[in-house]
Amino acid sequence: MSKADSKTVYDEFTNLPILSSVYKKIDTQLKKRDEVGFLYFDISNFRWLEEKYGHGKCRELLKLVGNTLEKQKGKLYRDEDLVVVGGKGLAYFILFLFSPPRRKEKFANHDLKLISTRIKQKLKHIIDEHNDVFMIDEEVDFHTGYTVIKEDPFMEVERLIYEAGREAGFKAQLEEIMVQFIANVSHELRTPLTSIKGYAETLLDGAMTDAGLCHRWLQIIYDESQRLERLINDLLDLSMLEAEQVELHYKSVDIRKVIDHVIFILHPLAAKENIGIETDYQKDLPLVFVDEDRMKQVLLNLIHNAVKYSPEGSSITIEVSQMERETQVSITDRGTGIPQSHLNRIFERFYRVEKDKTGKTGGRGLGLSIARHIVEIHGGTIGATSKPGNGTTFRFTIPPEPIFPIDI
Ligand SMILES: Nc1ncnc2c1ncn2[C@@H]1O[C@H](COP(=O)(O)OP(=O)(O)OP(=O)(O)O)[C@@H](O)[C@H]1O
Ligand SMILES: [Mg+2]
Repeated sequence: MSKADSKTVYDEFTNLPILSSVYKKIDTQLKKRDEVGFLYFDISNFRWLEEKYGHGKCRELLKLVGNTLEKQKGKLYRDEDLVVVGGKGLAYFILFLFSPPRRKEKFANHDLKLISTRIKQKLKHIIDEHNDVFMIDEEVDFHTGYTVIKEDPFMEVERLIYEAGREAGFKAQLEEIMVQFIANVSHELRTPLTSIKGYAETLLDGAMTDAGLCHRWLQIIYDESQRLERLINDLLDLSMLEAEQVELHYKSVDIRKVIDHVIFILHPLAAKENIGIETDYQKDLPLVFVDEDRMKQVLLNLIHNAVKYSPEGSSITIEVSQMERETQVSITDRGTGIPQSHLNRIFERFYRVEKDKTGKTGGRGLGLSIARHIVEIHGGTIGATSKPGNGTTFRFTIPPEPIFPIDI
């Protein structure tokens, strides 16, 4: 430990100790207690706020946050716990808890989560209350995270704190993904269910006596149930792919035949919109070594997307060419295109560029994430390029050999 570590340095605005000057203090507590609770609060849009509202106001904001955190001592945590600021003018704060809340022996995740949520609410509330001073009409975004730092005789406290910060951030991110995922799934499940329930209720209320109506509505109920079934199957498929729990049945395949078959399946759909699908296959293509059904699934989604997002009467081109080692398949449409800012996000599950403004497509944003997983477990890569208004090209590669040892 250097000398600087033994003397606490206080930040002139918040009056809080600066993190780097309290390592020694934390180290002593860690040695004494074996574990210390760690919570951080980061104003994630601070730089942006500073640019927009100036230095002075943002310093005041930091001061308010620091004061609020300090004032919670004796309420949400103990007097001897430590609130620090990341550094001079930095917009993140750390709270070190030296003993578990509610007289428990160990720090429990849900206790830390509760404290972090309460503090975040408190901070938001206080900032709102002071808004007549700040006049900030932008939301102040807090990122929070929590974890437990355990004593480790082989690691410097500075390193332990750094690792805690990373872990807390990672956990917070996972939690957010989880919440988002459940919200998406619930939403997607509810839409067809609402429709099934509504039509069934109306039928039960007496509409059953009209045979024509009855038949039409039962058909809707049936179609919606199928949609629900497809959704659940895709979700299961996706989670199996993500958990790498799928078994691939590799064999040597002529990729052109797979593409032709997929075009055959999608032909009626394309013909309805008068969309032509052309192919341009390089001569002397080698066979590829893939799971044929899975490749079909990738192609079905990509070509189906191309049809869905193409205007009436346009054409789609599918090319296959042999690169130095890999085989490359590309699907080009002349449709609406995808803005640059969305291009690397469309492979995320549930991501859609526009939420069905036309009502024509009815997509759920799962197809591309399934396709990406399948291409990647084959050892290939997938990507898209697009000029808005000028169409989109999706490309994926298939490596010459599977990357895992396999049984055929
Ligand atoms: N060829 C394309 N042209 C324009 N936009 C596209 C194209 N392909 C995909 N997109 C955009 O990317 C989003 C994600 O595509 P993805 O295939 O994952 O979902 P989807 O087609 O909406 O639904 P599904 O889960 O049924 O496949 C689409 O909602 C659409 O906004
Ligand atoms: Mg799709």
